[in-house]
Amino acid sequence: MTAMIPGALRAANLAVPAADVIDPAAAFIASRQFDRPTLVVSRDRVTAQYDALVAGLGEARIHYAVKANPAPEIIRALVLKGARFDAASRGEIELCLSQGATGADISFGNTIKKPADIAYAHAHGITLFAADSEAEIDKLAAHAPGARVYLRVIVENSDADWPLSRKFGCARSAMLPLMDYARGAGVDVAGLSFHVGSQTRNPASWNPVLDQIAALWTAGREAGHDLRVLNLGGGFPATYEDEVMGAARYAAEVMDAVTERFGTVPYIMAEPGRGLVAEAGHIVAEVLLVSRKSADDLHRWVYLDIGMFSGLAETMGEAIRYRIQTPHDGGETGACILAGPSCDSADILYEQRPINLPTALACGDRVVIRNCGAYTSSYSSVGFNGFPPLDVVVI
Ligand SMILES: Cc1ncc(COP(=O)(O)O)c(C=O)c1O
Repeated sequence: MTAMIPGALRAANLAVPAADVIDPAAAFIASRQFDRPTLVVSRDRVTAQYDALVAGLGEARIHYAVKANPAPEIIRALVLKGARFDAASRGEIELCLSQGATGADISFGNTIKKPADIAYAHAHGITLFAADSEAEIDKLAAHAPGARVYLRVIVENSDADWPLSRKFGCARSAMLPLMDYARGAGVDVAGLSFHVGSQTRNPASWNPVLDQIAALWTAGREAGHDLRVLNLGGGFPATYEDEVMGAARYAAEVMDAVTERFGTVPYIMAEPGRGLVAEAGHIVAEVLLVSRKSADDLHRWVYLDIGMFSGLAETMGEAIRYRIQTPHDGGETGACILAGPSCDSADILYEQRPINLPTALACGDRVVIRNCGAYTSSYSSVGFNGFPPLDVVVI
């Protein structure tokens, strides 16, 4: 990032809404110039959101899904708040340890792990692991003796904007045999996990999923498995195009639904990623080109200096619809196709459902892509086509 003298002129151009007065990332962006796409994230907003989630989750412990935003400053701030962490890899474990977390604070939540990484985690005091197959159970038995394992269940999650089905989890029909297999391998089947699907905007969408898990929970206990860890995964939503329910109320509604079905559970964990960090950050970017393909082309094409490969991967399938602030907000708007700068024709952000942007938008205009704190910096390529990876500033 190039921080220059606060640019009053450019700041005035931004049409910053009043709410941004208490939005440190927006205020920071408005007061500076940037020479490349930059994500600005506010630690205070992350910790405030953490408090809101804690208020709603009650007894359930937060294991922050590090993959959503692995900025060391965010991990450190969450360590100081007493958070725990869901790590997907050795790299994320090392990051958490380097910022003050202990092995006891970290769960290794990927169901696909390198044996050497399991051994590394075990040697660093991590005792809580995910698995969804016999082969993964075998690895844990060999490299993390004494581990507590939560088994991940495939659930149907058609209500999520960013579903996480199929790739992870074991079919419900295969779960009891898997529990028995783990017991035979000497592995402690401590509980169950699932993911309702990322960006599940309606808390009521959890109910049918919780019904499926509760039935398995009861069956597992009846089969003699000492299930005592219930991992709710993520799914807690952020406001993008549509406003979502506040984090505390959303989490409280989910917990009411959990209590109704499970009663008292010794350890309930939730793994928010998006719902914890998305709204704490915005990306500042620039319009590179506005054009039409022919004189009678109905569509304007707007090209930004950020795209699918440099941070906005979640526009894939037009799944996540970001709000874009421009210097011309309030003026006349029209539909346009929004695209990134790279030479890959897949680098189109919104086309099936074109986005409405001001007709006055022009090359050189600064745009602010709102609520981008999750799954942007961690998805950004190192330098596809020579475009720089997303810069990150944590304030
Ligand atoms: C195991 C696990 N837990 C938690 C999360 C975070 O999900 P979300 O960002 O919806 O909160 C993910 C996301 O991929 C995940 O894979």
